Amino acid sequence: MPDRRKILVTSALPYANGPIHLGHMLEHIQTDIWVRFQNSMGNMCTYVCADDTHGTAVMLRAEKEGKTPEDLIKAVQADHMRDFGGFLIDHHNYYSTHSDENRYYAELIYTRLKENDMINVRTISQLYDPVKEIFLADRFVKGTCPKCGSADQYGDACEVCSATYEPNELINPKSAYTGATPEVRESEHFFFKLPECQAMLKEWTRSGTLQDSVANKLAEWLDAELQEWDVSRDAPYFGFEIPGAPGKFFYVWLDAPIGYMASFKNLCDRRDDLEFDDYWKPDSTAELYHFIGKDIINFHALFWPAMLENAGYRKPSGVFAHGYITVNGEKMSKSRGTFIMAKTYLEHLNPEYLRYYYAAKLGSGVEDIDLSLTDFAQRVNSDLVGKVVNIASRCAGFIKKAGGSLSDTVAEPQMLADFQQAGTTIAQAYERREFSKAVREIMNLADRANEYIQAKAPWSMAKEAGREQEVHDVCSMGIHLFRLITLYLGPVLPDMNEKVKAFLNVESLNFTDRETVLTGHAINKFKPLLTRIELTQIDALIEASKEDVAADAKTGTPAAAGQNQAQAKPAKGQKAAKADDTAEQGGEIEFNDFAKLDLRVARVVEADHVEGADKLLRLQLDVGEDTTRQVFSGIKSHYQPEQLVGKNVVLVYNLKPRKMRFGMSEGMVLAAGGGNELWVLEAHEDAAPGTRIS
Ligand code: MSP
Ligand code: ZN
Repeated sequence: MPDRRKILVTSALPYANGPIHLGHMLEHIQTDIWVRFQNSMGNMCTYVCADDTHGTAVMLRAEKEGKTPEDLIKAVQADHMRDFGGFLIDHHNYYSTHSDENRYYAELIYTRLKENDMINVRTISQLYDPVKEIFLADRFVKGTCPKCGSADQYGDACEVCSATYEPNELINPKSAYTGATPEVRESEHFFFKLPECQAMLKEWTRSGTLQDSVANKLAEWLDAELQEWDVSRDAPYFGFEIPGAPGKFFYVWLDAPIGYMASFKNLCDRRDDLEFDDYWKPDSTAELYHFIGKDIINFHALFWPAMLENAGYRKPSGVFAHGYITVNGEKMSKSRGTFIMAKTYLEHLNPEYLRYYYAAKLGSGVEDIDLSLTDFAQRVNSDLVGKVVNIASRCAGFIKKAGGSLSDTVAEPQMLADFQQAGTTIAQAYERREFSKAVREIMNLADRANEYIQAKAPWSMAKEAGREQEVHDVCSMGIHLFRLITLYLGPVLPDMNEKVKAFLNVESLNFTDRETVLTGHAINKFKPLLTRIELTQIDALIEASKEDVAADAKTGTPAAAGQNQAQAKPAKGQKAAKADDTAEQGGEIEFNDFAKLDLRVARVVEADHVEGADKLLRLQLDVGEDTTRQVFSGIKSHYQPEQLVGKNVVLVYNLKPRKMRFGMSEGMVLAAGGGNELWVLEAHEDAAPGTRIS
């Protein structure tokens, strides 16, 4: 066996502004399986993680809930740790970026970058919300695209024509917080000189540290000119103040990856067998791997190695990106009940089912992975219950009858040798993160074991006198095979591994134990290991997930605000591909979404019937500033045109104009009711046309 490798592994730090869902679980299950595999092979593999606590999103959520950010992140961390524990994720440390260690390393690294002349100070103009008194991130400004004129586009890119621009180039920009028209204000920002790292990054990204497809993607950027990275934010901001720069804070993405170090340092301080420098000094021989989602590759494969290099630390040995989870072929959706929180899953189903299913689908690439719920149930039932557990349950009773110990001889030495030999291929697959291949190999073994038992049919033999020894030998053989199968599945099914250890009466069931054969060994009573998934459980899970959404809508705490549902989209060069906060996906909306609505008082100046339309009236509305708009409204069955003229109504002012058969409809008039009763909403008669409603 090669030397015992020293390995440090991380999963991306979940944001502290929302609950853990099955998308996060993909990453932690993938990482946990890999870490458990390494330790099962006898390596020294340490797994750390933490909550990512800083930034505007956490600050705003705390504000909304009337708490301090510190109280919020404490409560969220407890929830996150409970959920990860529930899924048997064995983080050796789960910490927080809002910690002394993290402040220490963030300051140290920043100071070193500065000393190495890697920080540039520049004054930039930025949009500022004068009502909320806060600078606006690109995603918090909306307006009309300067290129194609589409309304309601974010401050960084147009979803209609894909143009990218600066937020102050938007026509008629609005703050997503308050709807106020932002002002341009100047402020000093600190920039990390990423362009200086171009050569190093070109080399490093091609040195086998990344998946090929990821390296290829990054090469496109690295061939172009890199831009400096803005690492400071102005108060108010929840984070670490930059030393010597009052009112300036580290951007959340500066201290987030440093959180990996901080969590590890915190662990080292409690453990005699771990030395921080061993793992982080520039010439370290320990391996360092980051498991991440495909949306945060830039941060881990460009900014992070560049920071480490220039602050006197080692760079990662590998960054492993995975794809996104879809449920039943579509993005997780709150309204369909497929936005499933870890907690809700755990209330209905065994965590090992999901661990198994994810493993069975995971390869080493960045492709998305579909959690098809019926396939999930079928796969778990047929593989784990039907194949694996079945081997033991068919053999165990006969061992008991024979006195409780396995035979002194191995009935099929060649088959056993084959099963042991298969461990090499399986180990290789785990090592390369080809978990689906590992699972396939293991299930092939399970098929072979079942065929063997089926062919020997010990239950028939047992009915014939004088064949007790044969029955005992066959069933012992079955148990040997079962032992190897569950040993190989150990990284995926740690709980089952524990139960099998108790059943087999052994201390350990690791990859390093695979040459061991339990001839003549006394085993314990067999207890059921796993039960089938019933489709009713799946239905209940979906229902409960819908209820989660409804409950959250009531309390006003979003089920998962700002999770990374937005996919990686390198908007402008190497500019951060994702915002602190991204849009929701349906069901309830965020306040920001509501704030996008521009409602105004409009006075009806004309109202007519429309030829050929039996529901519509055509309204000509005075919207202030000598402008009128035409709107078609489906209120004909309840109003005579003349009743409406002169009324002040409520207009959705920024609704995209819609071309109708009768002409353009430029907005929408709000009404209550529908069906048999309907009232057009009215604003006070004194309100001037064009007055904003909020
Ligand atoms: N806080 C940052 C990471 C900082 S790492 C120094 C962040 N947090 S997150 O909570 O939005 O996402 C955490 C991880 O979960 C990311 O790697 C992200 O890709 C992953 N996932 C979030 N939703 C996901 C799916 N639906 N599917 C798979 N993984 C997804 O990003
Ligand atoms: Zn556009």
